[in-house]
Amino acid sequence: MDVSSDKYEKIVDLAARRGFFWPSYEIYGGLAGFYDLGPLGSLLKENIRKLWLDYFVFRHQDMVVLIETPVIAPEIVFKASGHVESFTDPIVTCSKCGKIYRADHLLEDILGIKVEGLRPEELTSIIREKGVKCPSCGGELEDVRTFNLLFQTNVGPYKHDVAYLRPEAAQGMFTSFKRVFNAMRYSLPLGIAQVGRVARNEISPRQGMVRLREFTIMEVEFFFDPEDAEEPDFSRFPEKLRILTADARSKGLDEVVVVRPEEAVAEGIVLNKWLAYWMSVAQAFAKELGLREDEILFEEKLPEERAHYSKQTFDQLVSISRWGWVEISGHAYRTDYDLSRHMQFSGEDMTVYRELKKPKEVTKKSVVIDQELLKEYFGSDTPRVLQALRRLSVEEVEKILSEGEVIVDGFKVPARVFRIEEVKEVVRGRRFIPHVVEPSFGAERLLLVVLDKAYYEEGGRVVLKLPPKLAPYKLAVFPLIPKEESLRTLARRIYHDAVKAGLTVIYDEDGSIGRRYARVDEIGVPFAVTVDYQSLEDNTVTVRFRDSREQIRIKSDEVIKWVLNNL
Ligand code: GLY
Repeated sequence: MDVSSDKYEKIVDLAARRGFFWPSYEIYGGLAGFYDLGPLGSLLKENIRKLWLDYFVFRHQDMVVLIETPVIAPEIVFKASGHVESFTDPIVTCSKCGKIYRADHLLEDILGIKVEGLRPEELTSIIREKGVKCPSCGGELEDVRTFNLLFQTNVGPYKHDVAYLRPEAAQGMFTSFKRVFNAMRYSLPLGIAQVGRVARNEISPRQGMVRLREFTIMEVEFFFDPEDAEEPDFSRFPEKLRILTADARSKGLDEVVVVRPEEAVAEGIVLNKWLAYWMSVAQAFAKELGLREDEILFEEKLPEERAHYSKQTFDQLVSISRWGWVEISGHAYRTDYDLSRHMQFSGEDMTVYRELKKPKEVTKKSVVIDQELLKEYFGSDTPRVLQALRRLSVEEVEKILSEGEVIVDGFKVPARVFRIEEVKEVVRGRRFIPHVVEPSFGAERLLLVVLDKAYYEEGGRVVLKLPPKLAPYKLAVFPLIPKEESLRTLARRIYHDAVKAGLTVIYDEDGSIGRRYARVDEIGVPFAVTVDYQSLEDNTVTVRFRDSREQIRIKSDEVIKWVLNNL
C-alpha cells in the first residue's frame, strides 16, 4: 500500500470508522471547526492529558499546581487582558456576493506572499494595488476590517451583562493568582496549570482537526521574580533545542540553531531562562508522543506575529503528513503584562512581597533641614514653613541648592537651611509584580499528531504504533478457539483480572485469530494475549507484540504484571 500520498485521508477514515474522531453534527451536514471524539479518541486524549500532567505538573510538583476555572468570563476580564481589543483577525467582504474571507490568507493564497501581521489599511492597499477580486464571483472587495475571535454570550437575562467564552485558560490563572499564591504559602516561582475547554471563533477553519473552534487547552502560567529568579535545573531536560530565530526568519534564512537550553539563554536567543526551561520540557514531552528530534523545531515569532501580551514567543512546530509543519505548543514570555492589566482594571493589588535571599545595605540620600537657622529667619512662622519644606523631595532640594533659594507658601527660603546627607539602610525585601512565561498546548491537535506518527501500513495491514503509554487499550485477550469453553474461561479470567488491575482491555472471540490481531493492530493495542490448548497444560499464554508481531510465552498469572511493567 502507498502510505505517503493520502495518509491523512486514511487516518481520517480510520478515525471515523474505528471511533477516534469525526466532524460534529454530521447528521446536519457538520459545522467547520468542531469535532467529536469517539470512544477511542476520548481514551487517547485522556492519556495525552495524563502524560502532559506528568511532565508539566507532577514532575514539577514542588512548584506547579493544578486549578480549574470557568469557561465563561465577564467582559471586564477580556477588556483587561487585551483580547477585546487585540484578539482579532483581518477580514474582507465581497461587495457583490457578500462572501467574507480572512484577508491575510486570501492574499497569501492568491498572491503567494506572506502578509501576516500587516494592518488592515496595509492589506487594503495591497488588494487595491494588485487588483485582487473575490475568488468566488470576481466582485470588488470592500476595505479590510478586523474581526474579533471571541465568542460572545450573556450571563443571565440582561443583554448588557456581556460575557465571553475564554479563548485561553490563562486568564483564570491570572485572576486567581493571589488566591493560589497565598494558598501555596507565598512561594515563587509558582506555576499554575489548567486543562480545560476554550473557544475561538476562527473565520474559516479549513484544516480539519488542526484548526478547531472549540478545543482543550493545556497550559501553565509560570510566575517568577524577574530580578531574582531561581535557576531552573537544566540537567533534568538537557537535550538540545532546534531553534529558528526571528532574526534569521526576517533575513529570509532558514538556518536552524541547535543549542542546549541554557546556551540559548546565555547567547541571548531565548530572553528568559524559564522560557527556555519549559521549552526543553515541551520537547521531551513531544518526543514521548512519538516525534523524533528532527521533526521538532522551535520557531521564534516575528514581532508582528506575536500576541499582544508577549515580549518573545516560540512556537514548537512538528512535521506531519499533509499539513507540513504545524504548531503544537506556544511559548510566550508574557512579562507582568496580564497581572498589571488586571491590577489596573480591578483595583486589586497584584504585587507580591519577597524577602531578598540576602538583606542588602543601600545608601540613600536624605534631606536635612536646619531648624535653628529656620527659626532665625522665620521666628513664629517656623512650624508653617517647616511643614511646607518637609514635602520637598531630594531632587527638588538638589535643585534649590543649585539655585540658591525657594519660595514656599509665600516664604522666601534660602538654600543654606538644607543639607543632603547620605544614610545607610538595610533592605530586607521588595514588592513587585511577578513575571510570567507560558507553555500552552492544544490537546486535540496532539491527538492528530500522535495518530500521524503512529500510522503504518505493513504487509497489507494497518498498524498504529502508538507509544504503549498512550494506547487507548493496553491489552487484548483472545481465546484461540472461541468454541472451546475451557479456553474461553481462562481468557475471560485474564480479562477480568486485567480490568481489575486498572488496564483497558479488549476481549474478542469473534472471527479468526488473524482477523482479531488485525483489528487490534489497527487501533494500536500494544500487546495481545492468546489462550490456547498449551495454556491448559502448562498454564502459559502467548503474548504477541503489535509492532514486531513476535510472540513469547509467559505464565498466565504473570501476564498482568508483565503488561504493567511494559507500559
Ligand atoms: N494562552 C495561549 C494562547 O492563547 O494561545
